[in-house]
Amino acid sequence: MIEYRNLRVAVLGGGSVGSQVASLLLEHREELAARAGAGLELVGVAVRNPDAARDTDIPRELITTDADALILGADIVVELIGGIEPARTLILGALGSGADVITANKAVLASHGPELFEAAEQVGAQLYYEAAVGGAIPIIRPLRDSLAGDRVKRILGIVNGTTNYILDRMDTQGDSLEEALAEATRLGYAEADPTADIEGYDAAAKAAILASLAFHTTVPLDAVHREGITALTRDEVLSAREAGYVVKLLAVCERIDADGVEGVSARVHPALVPLSHPLAAVHGANNAVFVEAEAAGSLMFYGAGAGGVPTASAVLGDVVSAARRHVAGGPGVAESTHANLPILPISSATTRYHVILEVADEPGVLATIAQLFSEHDVSVEAVSQTVPDGQEGSRPTATLVIVTHEAAESALAATVTSLAASPVVSSVVSVLRVEG
Ligand code: NDP
Ligand code: HSE
Repeated sequence: MIEYRNLRVAVLGGGSVGSQVASLLLEHREELAARAGAGLELVGVAVRNPDAARDTDIPRELITTDADALILGADIVVELIGGIEPARTLILGALGSGADVITANKAVLASHGPELFEAAEQVGAQLYYEAAVGGAIPIIRPLRDSLAGDRVKRILGIVNGTTNYILDRMDTQGDSLEEALAEATRLGYAEADPTADIEGYDAAAKAAILASLAFHTTVPLDAVHREGITALTRDEVLSAREAGYVVKLLAVCERIDADGVEGVSARVHPALVPLSHPLAAVHGANNAVFVEAEAAGSLMFYGAGAGGVPTASAVLGDVVSAARRHVAGGPGVAESTHANLPILPISSATTRYHVILEVADEPGVLATIAQLFSEHDVSVEAVSQTVPDGQEGSRPTATLVIVTHEAAESALAATVTSLAASPVVSSVVSVLRVEG
């Protein structure tokens, strides 16, 4: 048997993920070589501060601050710096020199994906990104390869470990958002700037990647509707549980029919998930992606969505794939964007809603509220009312919880505007979508 030459692997970034990838490349050298069909030689790890403490022992002689020099002559470049620059320029430089590139960087993929995929295609190289969505969970390959013969209808994903961890702690331990975020940061789940997690930017980038793959259409980041979890209160989380739901930050990617036009919609927002739905059982920093496909039916991909070691597993899977491609020869596989479906705004989406109102506790109020929903073509599925004990003052109030049937976002928005303006409504306390 002809032995293939050693492949030179450069790792850019030696942080939570990069340090684990470097260590595993060294530790599992022989096993990886057997699987890849070629030796994988770690030629260096580029960092910003060579003297910083690392999570793993990387030999000092492999550490460098010169990422540009490191990628020259590498066969495989692993980008684990994160953010847009210098990651984008380094990826383009690596692809330009003919190297295959592996990245876990959803931010750069969601904002510059077409440019990077085009650069790879031009030189016949390949850009791999299994770790960019769902950490350790295999979801990119299933969408790109296993489901290539099917039609994906919808994806519901818990794709941000930090926010799932925070919401879970608020729900089960009574933590505040700030307390839970501090712990998620300590555990290495959060982004360098955790605003990316809690304001939904990280999940929106992942939604753009998933929707692009699933619907064979480039979905730009700015087409993803985004809401984070910072406006959520612990009371909302607790009252959701009492009503039989759990609050999750969801990425929802759908193929929808808007007035006879088939299009794609992608949105990220907190949502109520029924406790009976598989996504409700996703705790801690775990992620899960629930895929509904025409022929396959419902599939769920579940596992560790963040953390250095789990993410390194997905990165190393890509390293082995890239090495096998080198050994087998032939060009990389281009991204499929052939469907080029229109991207529809969130106003075209339909879902159910859970609305909490504080209203006057007077005769006729329920009828007035029901009329406002009906005027905007939003059908009410369930209503419950509680009246606080011991109210003082001339105008007692009641709390109404209303769950709607499926309705258009635009219809619900118009209903909420009317409710807020109605003299019988003291306040619109909460409006959350119900998914799954
Ligand atoms: P870290 O912030 O822990 O590490 C970033 C690394 O990049 C550090 O080693 C830093 O060097 C290095 N770096 C920064 N700027 C430069 C530069 N200009 N030149 C060379 N090196 C530089 O990030 P993570 O490891 O957490 O994340 C890496 C990527 O993986 C990101 O894209 C992230 O979104 C993604 N990801 C992370 C997950 C996680 O759980 N952490 C999960 C899934 C994906 P120094 O150490 O000297 O500061
Ligand atoms: N900050 C991200 C998260 C890391 O919490 O999910 C994984 O992409």
